[in-house]
Amino acid sequence: MTGAADFEGLLKQAMGLDAASIGSSAVERAVQARMSVHELADSQVYWSLLTASAGELQALIETVVVPETWFFRDRGAFVTLARFACQDWLPARPGGMLRLLSLPCSSGEEPYSMAMALHEAGFPADRYGVDGVDISTRALAHAGAAVYGKNSFRGVDPAVRQRYFDTTAQGEQLRDFIRQRVRFQQGNLFAPDFLPGAEIYDFIFCRNLLIYFDRATQDRAVGVLQRLLSARGVLFVGPSETGLILSHDFVSAKEPMAFAFHKRGAVPEPAKPVPAPLRMPAVQRASLARPASAAVRPASASPRPAPPPKASLAEASALADQGHLAEAATSCEEHLRRQGPSAQALCLLGLIRAAAGNPEEAVRCYRKALYLDQDHPESLAHLALLLAQQGDADGAQRLRKRLSRVSERSGGHEH
Ligand SMILES: C[S@@+](CC[C@H](N)C(=O)[O-])C[C@H]1O[C@@H](n2cnc3c(N)ncnc32)[C@H](O)[C@@H]1O
Repeated sequence: MTGAADFEGLLKQAMGLDAASIGSSAVERAVQARMSVHELADSQVYWSLLTASAGELQALIETVVVPETWFFRDRGAFVTLARFACQDWLPARPGGMLRLLSLPCSSGEEPYSMAMALHEAGFPADRYGVDGVDISTRALAHAGAAVYGKNSFRGVDPAVRQRYFDTTAQGEQLRDFIRQRVRFQQGNLFAPDFLPGAEIYDFIFCRNLLIYFDRATQDRAVGVLQRLLSARGVLFVGPSETGLILSHDFVSAKEPMAFAFHKRGAVPEPAKPVPAPLRMPAVQRASLARPASAAVRPASASPRPAPPPKASLAEASALADQGHLAEAATSCEEHLRRQGPSAQALCLLGLIRAAAGNPEEAVRCYRKALYLDQDHPESLAHLALLLAQQGDADGAQRLRKRLSRVSERSGGHEH
């Protein structure tokens, strides 16, 4: 005789669900609902149908999943994502493509919030792609349509809503420039062929899923996340899932209210200089987190190297990275004198000025860079950040729009 334990066992095997997490009665109700769809009264007959039909198993899964989600849920995670992406990842990987995963993405509010957070921070649109994955095809259909009701906007600033959505008869329609950044696919975290490959993603949001699994199943799930996350990547989980993550090989990123973790022993960013100005000096990364006036680094204790005779931008960038800001500026200015003005050199000089606590001079440098090359993406992004820091939200917004137009012209979502 087929009993409740059989259905619970099947769901656990199929999708990892621990019936205790939602209550056995919820599983029972789901089974009853499916039986009435088929006009069946005998659970044995329904069991035969269920075990013989992948379509029916998926239909039962659709009935038990909890798709509850909303935009910018646990906001701190999105603030941290944008900061890590702009200040750490972007300057360290010139030309690279940032890969993000929202698993499970449910009806799309989470991956779209990731894209909006990056957009708000001025991250170039052609340099990232978000994958949204969920077991529920119903939730994914909603995500693809991207039309939302008021439950999806709990606590969302109306100004943010206006920037990204158009009001339609069906609800709030997310605008295309954000929709295009996210690609959805159906997937079951426990499927043997689930997202093949390793170290694919720089940021993974896996929030409010692990709570539905028992301990052994949680451990398997964390193993999958470990495989998918890059060596220096960041994993975001739900507030009640942090203890579990700390019991694995992860350490806290120490970001308040972000519930973010690095792999234990993750190597710091490589120290070797990369072509300027795409690598932001460490001191500048810090300055973005606090008022520019507080960003001046105390005089360095190490001996100060003389500026190289033939100053190159890579050298200027390396000097800035080591905190030798005056020498970095001299080297950059010398480069400008020898080679003539260029957007790249002026943008680097802007970064150095900002790092030295001179935002007005930095703004002048970025503006000169944009005068030479109105589409220079790094200058647009850095100037937008700086103006936003100075409280010029409109100015920052105009630059971000320019940046998105430049990104759109230079290609779309690449993966
Ligand atoms: C509560 S929502 C979380 C959505 C979002 N991450 C958030 O925190 O707002 C849980 C989602 O997990 C999905 N899910 C459940 N089991 C899954 C599995 N084995 N693989 C992939 N997705 C799963 C469900 O379909 C549901 O959409």
